[in-house]
Order: sequence, then C-alpha cells, then structure tokens
Amino acid sequence: GVTREYWLSVENSTLAPDGYERVVFTFNGTIPGPAIIADWGDNLIIHVTNNLEHNGTSIHWHGMRQLNNVEYDGVPGVTQCPIAPGESMTYKFQATQYGSTWYHSHFIQQYGDGLLGPLIINGPATADYDKDLGLLFLSDWSHTPACQLWDTARLGAPPTLETGLINGTNTWDCSGSTDAACIGSGKKFETVFEAGKKYRLRIINTAIEGHFQFSIDGHNLTVISNDLVPIVPYETESILVSIAQRYDVLVEANAVADNYWLRAGWVSACSTNSNPANMTGIVRYDNTSTADPTSTGITVGSNCGDEPLSSLVPYLAMNVGNYTEVTQEALSFTFGNYFTWTINSSSLYLNWSDPTTLKIYDNETIFPTDYNLVPIDQADANDEWAIYVIQDNSGIGLSHPIHLHGHDFWIIGQATGVFDLSTSALNLINPPRRDVATLPGNGYLAIAFKKDNPGSWLLHCHIAWHASQGLAMQFVESESEIAATLSDTVAFKDTCAAWDAYTPTE
Ligand code: C2O
Repeated sequence: GVTREYWLSVENSTLAPDGYERVVFTFNGTIPGPAIIADWGDNLIIHVTNNLEHNGTSIHWHGMRQLNNVEYDGVPGVTQCPIAPGESMTYKFQATQYGSTWYHSHFIQQYGDGLLGPLIINGPATADYDKDLGLLFLSDWSHTPACQLWDTARLGAPPTLETGLINGTNTWDCSGSTDAACIGSGKKFETVFEAGKKYRLRIINTAIEGHFQFSIDGHNLTVISNDLVPIVPYETESILVSIAQRYDVLVEANAVADNYWLRAGWVSACSTNSNPANMTGIVRYDNTSTADPTSTGITVGSNCGDEPLSSLVPYLAMNVGNYTEVTQEALSFTFGNYFTWTINSSSLYLNWSDPTTLKIYDNETIFPTDYNLVPIDQADANDEWAIYVIQDNSGIGLSHPIHLHGHDFWIIGQATGVFDLSTSALNLINPPRRDVATLPGNGYLAIAFKKDNPGSWLLHCHIAWHASQGLAMQFVESESEIAATLSDTVAFKDTCAAWDAYTPTE
C-alpha cells in the first residue's frame, strides 16, 4: 500500500444546505466534507486542524478496525483529549478493510451540525457495475443547531428535526416567510442515469435521530455489502438503514420514464417527534429535463429494525469460535434532573481531560470504576471470543443502533422479547457481521467479536442524544497489551496538554 495524506480544517461556517441559512460546522467549508479515498492496505495520514472558536473536536474513522492502533480512534475521554481550538492532530491508520464508510466528529453532537464526510476504501469487486456514484449521505437536519437542541434533548424528549438532507442538500419552502434566514436557495439532490448502465451507490444513514427506508421508484436495489463487509448479493425494493449503517447497492438503469424520485423515507414510528417527510432526490435519464418526477414509490412502513438477518450473508463465511462466557447487559434509564440511559444500572462517564489511553500511557490504574468501563481479558485458546447480549429492559420500546469501535461484530441474536441463555438460540455459523446493528425495542441484541485488538473501545447507541445521555460502555481489551501498541509519538499526549491549557470561553 501507498501512503495518502489529507488535510481537514474544522470550521465554523454559515451555510444554507436546504435554503435556510444557519451557523454550521464544516470540514474545509462543505457538508459533507471532502471525500477521503484510499486503496485497501494503504496508510492514511490525516491532519486535522481545529479552527472552531469555542469548541473542542475529535475525529473518528467510523468502522475502521484500528488494529493495534487505538490511539487514533478519535474518541474524547477514551482514546484522546479533544483537539483544542487552534490546535492540530495528525491521525495515522491503515485501511485494513474496504468499502464504504464515513468519518465524523465524535465530540458531543457535532456531526449533526455538519462534521461528517465520506471515507471510501477501494478493494476487490464482488460484483460488476459500470459506474460508482459514491456515497449518498442521508441526514436529518434542523434549522436550530444540534448543540442548542441538546439543552432540551437532555431532559428526555427527542427534539423536533424539521427536515433532512441528501448529500447535504434539500429544498425548504420559504414562500411567505419573513425570516431573513429563509433564503429559499435549496436544491434537491440529483443524479443522472444512462439507460442500460449499472450503478453502484453507497447508502449511509448519517442522521442523529432518524431511521430511513431507502428506495428509488421504478428500480430494484441489489445489495452487495453491509457496512465494510461484502455480502452475497440480494435484490430488494427498499432497504432499512439505521444510523451509521451502510449498504452498497447496485442499480440497473432499466426504467423507461425521464425521471424518478429517490426516497429516504423517514420511518416515523421510530422516533416520536420528527417527520422530515420531504427527503427526496431525483434520478434523471433525461438530464435536460428540470421537471419533477411523477413516479410513485413504496409506502414507508413502521419497521425500526435492520434488514432481515437472513438476507445479510457474508460473502466470505466466518464462524464464531471458542468462548467460555455469555455476558448479559441490561439497558434501562434513570430520570433525575436529566434523562440518563443506563447499562447494568450505570451510565458511561467520560473525562475528556483524562482519556483511558493516557491513563495507560501514564501507568495509572483504570479499574475498578463505578461506571461502564468493562475489562475484556486477553484471548486464550479456549476463550478467543467475547460474547455480549444487550437486553432492553427500559420498557420504552425504542430501537437503538448499537455501534462497536475497534471490531466488526458477528450478530448472533437479534429479537424482541427476553433473552434466555438456556432457550434462546445463538447463531454461530456465518452470521451477519458489521459494525452497527439494531437492538430492537423491548428486545435484545447478541454480538460476538474476536478478542484480537488490544485497546479501549467504545460501544454505544449511535442516536446522538442517547450517546450523550450515557447509552454507552467502554471495553478495555487486553489491558496489559495496550501500551505496546502505542506509537513513539503518542499524539494524544500533546493534544491533552493543549486541551489542559485551553480555557473554554463560552
Ligand atoms: Cu460513528 Cu462511535 O461512532
């Protein structure tokens, strides 16, 4: 592999993605940020400079394994301190997997205000197509910055997000509005199909709250990968996409009208308060036409889950190996001054100024603790795999997109109801594997992962409010081996020194 170098500037900008002007956060001035593209096996060197005035930041390379490389995972309080305003940090990692993913800020809810961008790793093709159309970002969006919405979100009820963006763009009706910010310059996402060609589209849900059912009127989708894992292709009319999940799909341009709606249908059943019904883009066969399509499409359902497990068969089969223990984790909540999610009765607490990697570097004790910091023992021949079952006991009935850092996980169980070790079947034979899967409301998610990556790894709900409300735990895997994986330069040391010296001014 070669070395590829990128520069990202984290900025305050004023943009009108949907024609409503507001303060946003951007990478290099755009939403989404610039595409980072590499070939499988390449080394990436990415220089991130924080040009925000009043905010720390930290960038996570979602889904990248960071094998023996925890120091560049980008999680404040876990693998580094936030990058202080005016400071830079250089991230270095190898593209150990290939496919479609994204990079995003992992500091509070910043990605909901625009800090996100495509990360594409080219690898061997498992299917043929004529043209790659790149990533299609499906985001929910508000005219009020997410950091302000958080003030109400933390009290419990999810705030209303009034609209959504496809690849950072949409329309908003400003007719009759007296609001000076409503400039009405928004455009819908559009792409052009040439009849007879086959296209690859990389669908990603980059919402902070929303669950999408994606479809293109008049066309079927052939799904070829989930997250960074190629799967045996299957055909469908629409796909359910939870937050942070990716599906690479092939679409044959074999329809007859001039244009069609492409739909990111918001599954309103999955969140009580928002309904950006207008999330559409346009596929044009006739690119001289400016007319809106008249096509009709699927009806969005009420399924808050993932694509069926039986559809997601990994192309390269891998079974779950030896394990000695199934650890059960109960998810619930408490409600004091603020709404807080809990796992086994405690929430994750992150000390931005003293991340786990720094404690390890300084030879400090990290256990025991009274919050969700969980040791994972080193692998031995009888116990190579970690198995966790997360049971939703909250009674709230909301689904949660659960993401694990540092690993792909094998989904060995996912159902509504109560998991029972003696009767609930675990599928250990080539189950789906990916890096985000839904924990069904009032149900459970059982995952397995190989204990092969020493580090401190976050597991969390990718609904931005829930992560901030403590729905997370931190695994410290093979603790005694972590120090040996740290590089000579340990960038987090300088980053923490600069963060300590910085006095927030807002
Ligand atoms: Cu998309 Cu913890 O990350």
